[in-house]
Amino acid sequence: MKRRNFLTFVAALSAVKIIEPVSKRIEKFNNIIERRYTMGKFELQPLTYSYDALEPYIDKATMEIHHSKHHQAFVNNLNKAIEGTELESKSLEEMFSMMSKLPAAVRNNGGGHWNHDLFWKLMTPGGSKEPTGDLLNDIVSTFGSFDDFKKKFAEAATGRFGSGWAWLVKSDNKLVITSTPNQDNPLMDVAEVKGNPILGLDVWEHAYYLKYQNRRPEYIENWWNVVNWDVVADLYSKT
Ligand SMILES: [Fe+2]
Repeated sequence: MKRRNFLTFVAALSAVKIIEPVSKRIEKFNNIIERRYTMGKFELQPLTYSYDALEPYIDKATMEIHHSKHHQAFVNNLNKAIEGTELESKSLEEMFSMMSKLPAAVRNNGGGHWNHDLFWKLMTPGGSKEPTGDLLNDIVSTFGSFDDFKKKFAEAATGRFGSGWAWLVKSDNKLVITSTPNQDNPLMDVAEVKGNPILGLDVWEHAYYLKYQNRRPEYIENWWNVVNWDVVADLYSKT
């Protein structure tokens, strides 16, 4: 098809909204979760801060192993799981929407890659100022107060048996706290509570055991000191 005819064809599809849903869905996260897909392979992105930058709340050794070993393994195993399949041309968000039909390796490693990409961006050295404006108003009207929200989020994180994640999501335009097992997330069609994550906390032991051993509640309490509320507010405004 000649280029001019092709562009006319794409414009016609857009006009009747055949291609809009996928592009809209991907666009939602583009400014925060940049594309990580090059030449058919997912890639581990470097952190925007050093491994020791979240001290004393999250120690250097944990950050280095978590990012360079655990996250890298999710990326490697995801690439292996989709190699030679039609999934090579799909985004993670597209895979999540049909996760119930995909192999466990794609679910575990695709979730692992996406969840950690978000997690690194949700933290910043020294944290950032607590939320204000629409996000704070929504948190207060939904959970009673900012402290009540933190308490309920911590309960979800502490109460997740075994390995998993705690989430604050926007679901049907409402804020909801939920948690998922393993490397699942609320974008997956298998999630009990579905929604767009705006905050997520890794409660796998690999995220805290070197410093906190079995004291998950202490890790959660200290984690609030490094949360990047600017990123949370950005995600909140885009979802
Ligand atoms: Fe992790």
